[in-house]
Amino acid sequence: MNKETLKIYRNFLKDSIRKKIAFKFTDQNQGIPVPPIEKNYPNDSILIDLPGLDEWKDIPKTDITTAIGNRKSHRVYLKQSLSLEELAYLLWCTQGIRGTVFNGHAYRNVPSAGCRHAFETYLAIFNVDKLDPGMYRYLPLSHQLVFEFTDDMLPEKMIIASLGQSYPGKSALTFIWVAIPYRMEWRYGLAAHKVIALDAGHVCQNLYLACEAIDAGTCAIAAYDQEELDELLGLDGEEEFAVYIAPVGKVKKS
Ligand SMILES: Cc1cc2nc3c(=O)[nH]c(=O)nc-3n(C[C@H](O)[C@H](O)[C@H](O)COP(=O)(O)O)c2cc1C
Repeated sequence: MNKETLKIYRNFLKDSIRKKIAFKFTDQNQGIPVPPIEKNYPNDSILIDLPGLDEWKDIPKTDITTAIGNRKSHRVYLKQSLSLEELAYLLWCTQGIRGTVFNGHAYRNVPSAGCRHAFETYLAIFNVDKLDPGMYRYLPLSHQLVFEFTDDMLPEKMIIASLGQSYPGKSALTFIWVAIPYRMEWRYGLAAHKVIALDAGHVCQNLYLACEAIDAGTCAIAAYDQEELDELLGLDGEEEFAVYIAPVGKVKKS
């Protein structure tokens, strides 16, 4: 491997860039309005209310030590549906908002550099009670889903977009986290990108642990066809693009 090229790529993991950035020139410090917490949707969209924390009846309490000790990647799922309540719970654990929204900031159940939370959560739904199969997106501000589109070939398209890995098309549902980098760049400029990648890890780890409570499993997926997946989701690939995939399904617990 070429040493100079390696140096460039390794620098991405370092925080040396912070010393080179004139933070007084970031958009935030230039007084440019804070970008929205959540991506907008058309007025005539179909919205689905999700049960909130106080309405959950069948989400078992799970000891955190047990959940961490049992966590592992699952790539084969039972042909069993997830309930809407279970989906609501997984969304709350991974991107749910807690507390109040102030000045374009909202604390969530995962940490995020500068509380910028640069992700949208897309969901390829295949087998969730009360939901028609199709692509949806989570709206954390109202704890709802917005229906994006449907496609009879969605399972096959998810498999192709995952470079032939079958589990994202054979799950009950598949999470696709999409980055809107400007949310982080607004605050951190060119120092935004490493922390977006770090943030994705917290989100997916919460999904792994949350799955443990409901006899479900997931598998982090970072190998996918960027252009194919962005096109499937209708993303421009610049201002918004997929960064991480995680299929979820019920699993046999050993
Ligand atoms: C960032 C990241 C990317 C991964 N990408 C893939 C992937 O594309 N396909 C896959 O089957 N597993 C993927 N995995 C899962 C790992 O292979 C798995 O975590 C590892 O083998 C350890 O197994 P465990 O999770 O059961 O402990 C990924 C995991 C992480 C954290």
